[in-house]
Amino acid sequence: MLTLGIESSCDDTSIAVIENGTRILASLVSSQIEIHRRFGGVVPEIASRKHLEAILPLLRETIEKSGIKISQIGQVAVTAGPGLSGPLLTGLSCAKAVAWHLKIPLIPVNHLEAHLTASFLANERLPEYPFLGLIVSGGHSNLVIAKGPRGYETLGYTVDDAPGELFDKVARHLQLGYPGGPIIQKTGEGANPKKYELPRPMAGKGYLFSFSGLKTAVVRLCETEGDKLDLPALCAALQLAVADTFSRKVGNALKESGLKRLVIAGGVAANRPLREELARLAEAHQAEFLMPSIHLCTDNAAMIAAHGFISADLAPQNAILVNAAANWDMGAPFNF
Ligand code: KG4
Ligand code: ZN
Repeated sequence: MLTLGIESSCDDTSIAVIENGTRILASLVSSQIEIHRRFGGVVPEIASRKHLEAILPLLRETIEKSGIKISQIGQVAVTAGPGLSGPLLTGLSCAKAVAWHLKIPLIPVNHLEAHLTASFLANERLPEYPFLGLIVSGGHSNLVIAKGPRGYETLGYTVDDAPGELFDKVARHLQLGYPGGPIIQKTGEGANPKKYELPRPMAGKGYLFSFSGLKTAVVRLCETEGDKLDLPALCAALQLAVADTFSRKVGNALKESGLKRLVIAGGVAANRPLREELARLAEAHQAEFLMPSIHLCTDNAAMIAAHGFISADLAPQNAILVNAAANWDMGAPFNF
């Protein structure tokens, strides 16, 4: 079974072809990062227009690269949400057109559910349930118990900023560039993470997260240190504070749930200190640890196709009528 995947929820247009849910024949990404960089973040109207320009040439290129004919595609999986409405609509309309034309099933996919599937895809495996999932990105910080391809119990979420948003905002404050996460990681490499002490937000608050206080703490530290500021040490301390915060809460969730598989996903799952800390934690709990390879951490259509493959049975019959859903909780019904 060949599944075509289409992703356009934010600033990356991506199209992929995968075989039997695990083998990537082609996965191309057209990034808009250079366009949005000068604004320090994604501008939705510009993003919509760029998706529209990119999507058909990218579809052609992906089919060519995968070495198949488009008529061999058996089903189309597409991100229907959550994300930016305009960008989502571009991908959804393209997917509907392909499915309609080829008379093949359309599978609307939840972007966050697909992020978790990316960690299995990175190991050429189909997801095995249940597991404890942590999605950390520019917009999300969700801790969930995954019970099936469309069954999730949310344990925790952020009450304000997501961790990627924290890294992006701090990088902007320090005038380091955009996106902030990779730059902060690089700047902090080899530095002493204990030189500066930053708070561990919401330490006693169950599974809820909050990262806006950490941003304020960094701004204050910059003010008090002035010219003396040790930038690499600050970047290392910030990453340690984030890794430590997740480690404590994920550790509690592993203990409480008794789950023996931990899966992390999303753009911030590329963060080395976080990956290392959570790998240690999983080992201490004798849990299997799965994380996506770096190129499957950020938004991509391969994970959408993979998640479409395993959730095809759960797609609505009249999927062609599904609408884009800017807000769509994991496991929640489709938006008609
Ligand atoms: O999942 P993603 O590609 O897009 C969504 O937000 O859905 O995640 C993007 C976020 C950005 O905030 C970026 O700064 C962060 O992921 N990021 C990282 C790293 N690479 C990307 N954060 C920390 N360390 C990294 N190596
Ligand atoms: Zn994403």
